[in-house]
Amino acid sequence: MNRKTISGHESDLPAGAKFHEGIAAGWAQGYTGGSFGRRRACFRALLDRNVEPGKAWLDLGCGSGVLTSELMLRGATVVAVDGSPGMLREAQAGMADEHGSVVTWLQSDVQSLPQLRNAEFDGVLCSSVMEYLENPDAALREAARLLRPGGKLIVSMPPKGSVVRMAQKSVRSASRLFGGNKFPYLAVSRFEVDPGHLRRNR
Ligand SMILES: C[S@@+](CC[C@H](N)C(=O)[O-])C[C@H]1O[C@@H](n2cnc3c(N)ncnc32)[C@H](O)[C@@H]1O
Repeated sequence: MNRKTISGHESDLPAGAKFHEGIAAGWAQGYTGGSFGRRRACFRALLDRNVEPGKAWLDLGCGSGVLTSELMLRGATVVAVDGSPGMLREAQAGMADEHGSVVTWLQSDVQSLPQLRNAEFDGVLCSSVMEYLENPDAALREAARLLRPGGKLIVSMPPKGSVVRMAQKSVRSASRLFGGNKFPYLAVSRFEVDPGHLRRNR
């Protein structure tokens, strides 16, 4: 397995990666059911339609590698990038050895990828990462730079007006009043997109 640098001091990590460092250990298990299970099913259908064997994909903010594996199962070669060393360790630990030759792990901030100066990809996947970034435009620019003409970009972000997210925000606000910290991810998950706006500006 191609094991690239997995190091880094917690104080140097981007805020979103620092937050995920603390929850890396349980991240992959979350995908076994519930809303994450449904998310995985949704991505499987999307990747079935868009990933062809032998193509090169970049997984930006790969986390514990659940979707990296899905890319590889469809025959892609993958460069998987994350800012959290803990997430990358989880990803490597969970990866079957037969996938080893087709994945390269890279610890980096996805907002600036000078390590991939000369790389080019047929597809870029960025699932549930943009909302944690200080500068999502910078990450999108990197994705655009690294995509071949006609390449595929799959990005997910939380939708504005999500009932679940709104309920979680209310519970969080109430818990904060009593010194609690419910749904701590909401402190670092900043951005939401308006699906109507995206459809209108397609
Ligand atoms: C919600 S997880 C999503 C993981 C994976 N893409 C998935 O869908 O299962 C967000 C990931 O983004 C990473 N991340 C957040 N900010 C980052 C940054 N600036 N650079 C690199 N990775 C970052 C976190 O470390 C974490 O692994």
